[in-house]
Amino acid sequence: MELSEAALIESFNAAGQGQVFQFLDELDAASRAALLAQAARIDLAEVAGLVAAHVTGAHTGGLDLEGLEPAPCIARPENGGDPDRWAAAWAAGSAAIQAGRVAAFTVAGGQGTRLGYDGPKGTYPVTPVREKTLFQVFAEKIARSGERFGVTIPWFILTSGINNTATIEAFEAAEYFGLPKDSVHFIVQGLVPAVDGAGKILLAEKGQIAMTPDGHGGALRALVRSGAVATMEAAGIDIVSYFQVDNPIVQCVDPAFIGFHVLGHSELSSKMVPKAYALEKVGHFCLQRGQALVVEYSDMPESLQEATNADGGLRFNAGSVAIHIFDRDFIARAGGDCSGAKLPFHRANKKIPFIDAQGERIVPTEPNGIKFEMFVFDALPLAKDPVIIEAARGDDFSPVKNAEGVDSPQSCREDQLRLFARWLKAAGVAIETDATGLPPFRFEISHRFAADEADFTGQWAQLDPKPEIKEGVVIGE
Ligand code: UTP
Repeated sequence: MELSEAALIESFNAAGQGQVFQFLDELDAASRAALLAQAARIDLAEVAGLVAAHVTGAHTGGLDLEGLEPAPCIARPENGGDPDRWAAAWAAGSAAIQAGRVAAFTVAGGQGTRLGYDGPKGTYPVTPVREKTLFQVFAEKIARSGERFGVTIPWFILTSGINNTATIEAFEAAEYFGLPKDSVHFIVQGLVPAVDGAGKILLAEKGQIAMTPDGHGGALRALVRSGAVATMEAAGIDIVSYFQVDNPIVQCVDPAFIGFHVLGHSELSSKMVPKAYALEKVGHFCLQRGQALVVEYSDMPESLQEATNADGGLRFNAGSVAIHIFDRDFIARAGGDCSGAKLPFHRANKKIPFIDAQGERIVPTEPNGIKFEMFVFDALPLAKDPVIIEAARGDDFSPVKNAEGVDSPQSCREDQLRLFARWLKAAGVAIETDATGLPPFRFEISHRFAADEADFTGQWAQLDPKPEIKEGVVIGE
């Protein structure tokens, strides 16, 4: 039901949020209408609950860590896993892809503030030679996986109100990177108002409320609210392969991973990588009172992060890399309105530019505000029969998060080169690399050509003539 203007303003006053309309009389007609429309989309009850729980209310302190154990994970064959089980998983996953049951899902609604790039992160160039964008890399991988199994794999992309238009424009300009346009679906995630230390909603401009995306956990309710879950159901899709926009080496549609999910009757499956070192800043896959969960490094005492087993290995060794498979009905449940299964919100203190009571725009140098986000891995304790499999870091995880240093464009480019060099070596091609596996020159393997190492080996065998491997070469174009 739409409220009248007066009723809308009154509802904000009653909720103690009347400051939002403090400058209403100074606005022109268009700005006034825009502010009122923005305000009408805010769920005041949700905001009140968040403020009570995370801002003004008594904080409960740290996470309950009682009885925390490492979660069981399926090891890779080279680390003691059963090769026959992996082969069976690959076969089951391939059959599911072939049957058209699988969609790819990229979460790309974040603000990418650490990278400091102006534009949707998916339009950031990442490959070593062609400088293809993240979106193009994923599009090519999805197209190749579909071609390999004789299907068109639908691709759902989560955007936010902040970057949705720019994202669609980038796809239009690139003619959807050769994908059928109707196989690409954009889903807009929700925005939540940012508040100050007293729980008051902040204004970004006199006529604009400061809103931030509701976190990657918001993906689940966005998939439900947008009708994407219904679209999937109508198309016979029940397996959703989830990955982040900032990780170009992810296997977007990994048959073995999908197979483990299917064979385990899992509602939510996850990939883990062994931690690079004890205090690596990743979430940890754990078990508590029989339920799987991810505990962020910031919630985990160092003594637990560093704890070892009798063999000297790290006890909590399974790092989360934000790669999951969701069961469609589970998304409907965890992202739906009327269920006990709900993702919690978390509080993050941020520097949020705002308009003060005098109408001055303030750009803070210290965190002044609070934003609320849901995390997708909080769905794990809600899921039945979760499966966690080990992934090789170099085959699946090298995100572009920061402008420089760890997880930067450069570290990611080098990881791509290492991966390409490994694929060539697996296909029997001699290529010089340093002790870290990095070749001394830049080249690239087209993702349209091969989706993984086994695929590359097969494709390479058939390639005639074979290119010379040297600086600047692009294989498979
Ligand atoms: P990050 O946690 O890296 O956040 O998101 P971010 O917003 O992209 O970057 P910073 O922290 O501002 O530098 C991990 C993944 O989750 C998506 C991002 O797009 C990225 O793929 N995400 C994050 C969303 O889709 N929505 C959100 O609200 C937050």
